[in-house]
Amino acid sequence: MSKSNAAAQAEGAIIVGGGIAGLAMAAALRNIAGVSNIKLLEASSENEFTNIRAGAAAQLGPNGLRALQFITSGDIVQKVIDMGGVLQGNVMMMPGGQSMVIPDTTQSDTGIPQVLVRWGMLRSVLAEQLPQGMILTGAESNVAGYKVSTQNDSEVSLIDATGNPLDMPSTPLIIGADGVKSTFRALVRKCTTNLAEDFDAAGGEDVTYGGRINVKAVVNKSLNEEYKSGHTYAAFAPDGSVAIFAGPAGDGLTYWAISIADSNDVTFLDDIPKGSDEKPEKKNLKEMLLAKLNTLNSDPYIKSVIDLIEQTPTDDVYFQKSQEAKGLGTHSLHSEDGRIVLAGDAAHAFSASYGQAANFALEDAATLAACIRDSENLKDALQDYSKMRLDRCIEMQARSAERAAKAMRGEQAEDVSKWIFQWEIA
Ligand SMILES: Cc1cc2nc3c(=O)[nH]c(=O)nc-3n(C[C@H](O)[C@H](O)[C@H](O)COP(=O)(O)OP(=O)(O)OC[C@H]3O[C@@H](n4cnc5c(N)ncnc54)[C@H](O)[C@@H]3O)c2cc1C
Ligand SMILES: *[C@@H]1O[C@H](CO)[C@@H](O)[C@H](O)[C@H]1NC(C)=O
Ligand SMILES: *[C@@H]1O[C@H](CO)[C@@H](O)[C@H](O)[C@H]1NC(C)=O
Repeated sequence: MSKSNAAAQAEGAIIVGGGIAGLAMAAALRNIAGVSNIKLLEASSENEFTNIRAGAAAQLGPNGLRALQFITSGDIVQKVIDMGGVLQGNVMMMPGGQSMVIPDTTQSDTGIPQVLVRWGMLRSVLAEQLPQGMILTGAESNVAGYKVSTQNDSEVSLIDATGNPLDMPSTPLIIGADGVKSTFRALVRKCTTNLAEDFDAAGGEDVTYGGRINVKAVVNKSLNEEYKSGHTYAAFAPDGSVAIFAGPAGDGLTYWAISIADSNDVTFLDDIPKGSDEKPEKKNLKEMLLAKLNTLNSDPYIKSVIDLIEQTPTDDVYFQKSQEAKGLGTHSLHSEDGRIVLAGDAAHAFSASYGQAANFALEDAATLAACIRDSENLKDALQDYSKMRLDRCIEMQARSAERAAKAMRGEQAEDVSKWIFQWEIA
């Protein structure tokens, strides 16, 4: 492959974060832009990183799967579809036992289905695409900024809060794929090179809480036979305070997710006793969740989900707060000096109401790699990337927020799935 100047200038890139965004980015830079020297730093331990039961499920649709096809080689897309559950429809469970089936026409509309895959399995499929030694797990997570060499401005070191360089090779480009509370987004937005002692707080400064806790998992068990295969189910407490989802996540695997609204002064997580790491203990979390569900009407669907939760190993229960990074569009997705570029939730965290976080992370990777492949210099490539991504991400964030807010009031928002799925790599 003959390499563009921008790709040559990106050699030695460091990706911070080994979630879907970081892993997809590493594959894309290698396969599309021909950048061969990349290091990916992931804070979690090797054990955590290789756990295929981590997280719950990711939803992938035509846009994300096209991006995945573009950035990987071989039949990865088919492999992902085969290991997940293809969605054929959604069933709304009404109070009083009635139900309403809404077919999922994605496959017939676009030729590509929507699929729900175990999150940890998707991560491991992406990680397997990368050469041995590229991913450094257990990486120091205390990066607070960067320092550009005075001799050579493509030699950038990552630094800690006191300004000392971390033990890493210097790099021309840092890709911030460090999730919703991104340190690198804070650096870009504050137009600074060091967040210093505030770096932990600064990463969350522009994050707003959407008022819901989502507790979820994939369990090694099928939904009862009375549920249609390939269908996701949803029930809502009459006041919208609890939503209960379940659906297929691959052979013999079922996904469940409970979304709980917080009141103004009490949050569901606050009531849960914390472990030594200051996080709610999963055992308590699961017990509180079951207690909450047992206060609802005991209809058969809710009972089935309670049963799934009871059978889920405690360690497999995953939770996340609904969060978004506000002020999207008031800054580029890269730093002015061209040394940092953002991807995934670090670039554009939005509400999960359309299930687009992983898809957009894949789109980011495909887009940045194509921009680098096609540019004469790295700075132009980053500018093109920001330009190509921002409007779409702003729109997605607004639509996701609108859908989430309406769902809480029991209303339906205009469905923009067709627009979401249309995306293709330019
Ligand atoms: C373990 C895990 C499980 C998840 N499970 C689900 C799920 O089941 N369903 C769902 O909808 N979403 C899930 N998510 C979130 C989902 O992956 C994202 O919303 C979306 O895919 C975008 O991914 P991302 O890579 O941008 O961010 P993330 O998935 O948040 O990944 C960010 C990664 O960066 C690492 N990191 C952060 N800071 C540093 C640092 N300073 N140095 C090194 N590494 C750092 C984190 O450990 C993490 O692995 C999960 C995330 C994680 C981390
Ligand atoms: C600057 O550093 C890069 C990366 O180490 C190197 O490839 C390049 O030759 C250096 N440029 C100069 C002018 O020394
Ligand atoms: C899931 O269930 C199957 C059969 O019931 C079993 O063979 C397999 O080991 C289980 N896997 C896990 C991770 O529990």
